[in-house]
Amino acid sequence: MAGKQIQFYYKNVLADVIGPEHGITAQQLDELAKQTTPLILKIKDEILTGNSRYGLLPGDPQIAKSVKALVKHFKPKCENLVVLGIGGSALGNIALQNALNPFTYNLDNNKRKGPRLFVFDNVDPAHFGSFLDFITPRLGKTVFNVISKSGQTAETASQFMIVQKMLETRFGKEKLKDRVVATTDLEKGTLRKIATDAGLHTLVVPDGVGGRFSVLSAVGLFSAAMTGINIDQLLAGAKDMHTRVTNPDFFKNPAAINAAIQIHYYNHNKRISVMMPYSSALYSFADWYRQLWAESLGKKYFLDGGEAYVGPTPVKALGATDQHSQVQLYREGPNDKIFTLLEIQDFGRKIRIPAPPKSARELNYLAKKDMGELLNAEKKATEYALCASNRPCVTVLFPKIDAYTVGQFIFLFEATTSFAGALLDVNTYDQPAVELGKQATFALMGKAGQYTPDRSYADFAAEIRAKTEFDANFVI
Ligand code: PA5
Repeated sequence: MAGKQIQFYYKNVLADVIGPEHGITAQQLDELAKQTTPLILKIKDEILTGNSRYGLLPGDPQIAKSVKALVKHFKPKCENLVVLGIGGSALGNIALQNALNPFTYNLDNNKRKGPRLFVFDNVDPAHFGSFLDFITPRLGKTVFNVISKSGQTAETASQFMIVQKMLETRFGKEKLKDRVVATTDLEKGTLRKIATDAGLHTLVVPDGVGGRFSVLSAVGLFSAAMTGINIDQLLAGAKDMHTRVTNPDFFKNPAAINAAIQIHYYNHNKRISVMMPYSSALYSFADWYRQLWAESLGKKYFLDGGEAYVGPTPVKALGATDQHSQVQLYREGPNDKIFTLLEIQDFGRKIRIPAPPKSARELNYLAKKDMGELLNAEKKATEYALCASNRPCVTVLFPKIDAYTVGQFIFLFEATTSFAGALLDVNTYDQPAVELGKQATFALMGKAGQYTPDRSYADFAAEIRAKTEFDANFVI
């Protein structure tokens, strides 16, 4: 059953609203339409082929089928699900959980529709160690989902090695398969080898789908389904949005128009893109968006190999919280940002604010109002205040937050990223600059062998140490 559609609202970027210096004129909008319309067919194909095949995910019934089969197998005896992953192998899981399950999900044994969920995307020993203290006595009812396309990612690999040792010591090597699901490449990579050797249950990170575009694959869907999220609705929502973002009419295509607006502003010295949900549940999606936007669009080269050094800087903020932290800057600081506000029509919950005590009559205006009404009034107030300072903003309007609307939102921003990459003329789907830091970590952690044909990891480590060692002359 189809649910309600999210909507994209862009009037507040127009010159009629925020003035000709910062707003988009009717003529500029027509030019954006002319420039972007030919890209619609290109993106329609692009997201189904090559290294960008995330467009195939919503329509692939096999993915949900394989996920559900493992959920059926593992869920009955599972009280804790622990996801080990980083970047695109974790941010979507966190975002789905926070958006679609209640804030107190992990705390409420009676209301939860599945195991507690913990997602570890860092290697902070104090943080991870404190979790190990909690989980060690509970291992008998715990399942670990290790997610890594390559299996070589140092953070995920080290977490998993700790967990594997702990499980094997407690239950024996042959029982590892009862407690671990590995999500990785179908054939290649270190984690695939480990999984094959240990006979682990596995799920697949589809070929041609990069980490940051993989939330609608088994990467994001297994933890979602384990915790009771309706993954069919999530995929149905994404499919619905797939139709909308391939609409050849620019003015009916929310991804094309959103990307055109974002890149117009990037080209007109508004190089910061703030995503500000007026919903605590959607705040983690601003984190997910940061990775999607930053890794996809921050590029040194244009597609023809010329130097580019382009990329908008994504920033996250939370309404109403950051009205008391960031909005002073947003209105009176440099006019160098474009804002994406997320507004929720129906929060699914009403909380009435009671009358204030007699001594505080100045708070009477809040009495008998619903808390969601206050949050939405604050959203409108910020939108108005931004416009009053000639700051452009768009809104994504959610009729409500459910799996169907969240699926739409995910696909909208994935497609917006593809359009933005095409408008910037960069490779949206690679992340070459991440590699140097990864290799340097390998070297510093003592990896053996050659970094390049003419340089060993040991030599590389010596060079890094020489360059990064604290120089006493500059320490105060
Ligand atoms: O978007 C990406 O490709 C990255 O963020 C990866 O997801 C991240 O580096 C983790 O990689 P892997 O899944 O190989 O461990």
